[in-house]
Amino acid sequence: MKKKLYIETLGCAMNVRDSEHMIAELTQKEDFTLTNSLEDADLILINTCSVREKPVHKLFSEIGYFNKKKKADAKIGVCGCTASHLGEEIIKKAPYVSFVLGARNVSKITEVIKKPKAVEVDLDYDESTYAFSDFRSSPYKAFINISIGCDKKCTFCIVPNTRGEEISIPPELIVQEAKKAAKNGAKEIFLLGQNVNNYGRRFSDKERNIDFTDLLKMVSEIEEVKRIRFTSPHPLHMDDRFLEEFANNPKICKSMHMPLQSGSTKILRAMKRGYTKEWFLDRAMKLREMVPDVHISTDIIVGFPGESEEDFAHTIDVVKEVGFEQIFSFKYSPRPLTPAKDYPNQVDDSTASKRLSYLQELHFSMLDTISQKELGKVYEVYFEELKPGGYVAGRSSNNWIVKVKGSEELLGKFVDVKITKTGRLSLEGELIA
Ligand code: 5AD
Ligand code: SF4
Repeated sequence: MKKKLYIETLGCAMNVRDSEHMIAELTQKEDFTLTNSLEDADLILINTCSVREKPVHKLFSEIGYFNKKKKADAKIGVCGCTASHLGEEIIKKAPYVSFVLGARNVSKITEVIKKPKAVEVDLDYDESTYAFSDFRSSPYKAFINISIGCDKKCTFCIVPNTRGEEISIPPELIVQEAKKAAKNGAKEIFLLGQNVNNYGRRFSDKERNIDFTDLLKMVSEIEEVKRIRFTSPHPLHMDDRFLEEFANNPKICKSMHMPLQSGSTKILRAMKRGYTKEWFLDRAMKLREMVPDVHISTDIIVGFPGESEEDFAHTIDVVKEVGFEQIFSFKYSPRPLTPAKDYPNQVDDSTASKRLSYLQELHFSMLDTISQKELGKVYEVYFEELKPGGYVAGRSSNNWIVKVKGSEELLGKFVDVKITKTGRLSLEGELIA
């Protein structure tokens, strides 16, 4: 009988793809099959995120719960960014954990499950040319890594210490993977990296003269690929050539994530983001001008050390000016191994909470106006998911979730939809025959 694998994935899209890679290796090279039941599992994996403190805090209670529920001989493995960061400390604190597998050591999953105890968290490990087995959670879209690690030194961020130095994956491998996925039905390709538009700075096999814009062109030349998305780009590297390709290449979805972090140039400097408020506004406005329907999402941190009311007002200013369609906002969380945790003038929690609520309420009220403008528009929707109540949902190129009445025959199809109802986070419409 096949062994059963239970896997929980936290954090970002990179983690989702890492989990797919582990599932692929375990189901194709070992004798595992996936289960949703903790009690039935022979192997329990948790793929962790360490970007903020809270989920790291919860990790130990969560694996404690796994330990209580699991079969006597089932193994527990802690993977991902918290695994990289805490390493063997995890096994010391929770001796029932069998192995700790860092975010940069995913390909060793088939080795670590065979050892009584293992800690594999090598930050220099190079998986950029490793040929993972194939597994995709969705038949309609394919996540494809284009780089590993991150070379930026944002002073709040633990990721360079959990995912290591940035190495780009050779373009031939990316194109080959995209071709294969698209031929198998995944018409939407989602290119992933911590910093996608820094692509091409360093390869581990040989030098190449290629950047992210070139890579976008190459992937868009694959006939079966109909849509390309990517995350996350960095505002600093949004040069004109990149914006022009984004605007003019019809296969590139018109949705851009532009992580602002702060609207204050002083704070951006303290964060070592490399751009100013004016640069960010210039890029966002240029984008809106070039692509009228563009959907811009962002990440914002409030309460970074030294953030005054005036600094926060600059953030609010950018929010009002850009009119982001989506904001992921967070209270600053001091992280180990980051310079900002030792900065003076840490902002007290109640001030940060107030700023966060203010920002979120403001954006919530802006969303009504933003979504109202969608009424009556016609979007081509790529349908991916059945929803309760006889609905099918998909996304427009500019990333609105759109649902219509319908059934599974719509799945995997591109269909024009007229928007008849708007909500803050999703739209509803009717198929245009
Ligand atoms: N505190 C709060 N938010 C953080 N992020 C990264 N590090 C921290 C931190 N120390 C946020 C950033 C990033 C997103 C993935 O998480 O906004 O873009
Ligand atoms: Fe979390 Fe960042 Fe790691 Fe993704 S890369 S899992 S967001 S810490």
